Amino acid sequence: MDKGRKLIIAGNWKMNKTVAEALDLVNGLKRELANIKEIDIVVCPPFTALSDVSKAILNTNIRLGAQNMSEHNFGAYTGEIAAGMLKEFSVRYVILGHSERRQYQKETDELIAKKALAAHAASLKPIVCVGETLAQREAGRTELVVGTQLRKSLAALSAGQMEETIIAYEPIWAIGTGKNATADQAQDAHMFIRKQLAAMFNETVARHARIQYGGSVKPSNARELMSQRDVDGALVGGASLEDRSFSDIIKNCVN
Ligand code: 13P
Repeated sequence: MDKGRKLIIAGNWKMNKTVAEALDLVNGLKRELANIKEIDIVVCPPFTALSDVSKAILNTNIRLGAQNMSEHNFGAYTGEIAAGMLKEFSVRYVILGHSERRQYQKETDELIAKKALAAHAASLKPIVCVGETLAQREAGRTELVVGTQLRKSLAALSAGQMEETIIAYEPIWAIGTGKNATADQAQDAHMFIRKQLAAMFNETVARHARIQYGGSVKPSNARELMSQRDVDGALVGGASLEDRSFSDIIKNCVN
């Protein structure tokens, strides 16, 4: 199926990998994935490994993402990292509003909206994460929750910026549990998200914006998930920590 959108598969390494381990992983990926042109491939190491991984992937088909950034450009914000600092390492993407940051760092949609705007101002492409808990899904509130997250966290963006923004639909009950959303559940949620983008921005934005699925993606389920009409890629956690499983996910999704 040609959706008119290039698949984008990103590995979110979360708080894993020393520099030496990160280089091992990325060197393995370089070997495994050298010939893949059909899919945008992104790795998101921890901040401490960005510099070395950036050098290791020079002149390859692997692009670099960060896992978070500050909404501020510089100043007295101890422990924070600004977009301009990420740009020094040729970072192209930045994950924003991951459910773990929403939960543990109490990030709000309003904060994520500011970060998304700051990312675009620095020409970084945000990967904005949304998704419901199991209790919210079971209460029939998935669309309400995800709709509110989209409306608030994308509020500051222009239509042009939204076309360059990636949405990651990550149902919280599927993250790190081994229990992925079914292809139908993913497609339903992604179709809903695309409709919301059409209503919030316009049809062209909705047609062009890429929507990743995240939550227990592995080599055995990636192809079926990616073949859904509105699923344009994956944000992979656990299975991105090993070169074989991450590259198998990508290879299994090449037509
Ligand atoms: P898992 O692939 O480990 O379920 O994690 C998904 C995720 O949170 C990616 O951001």
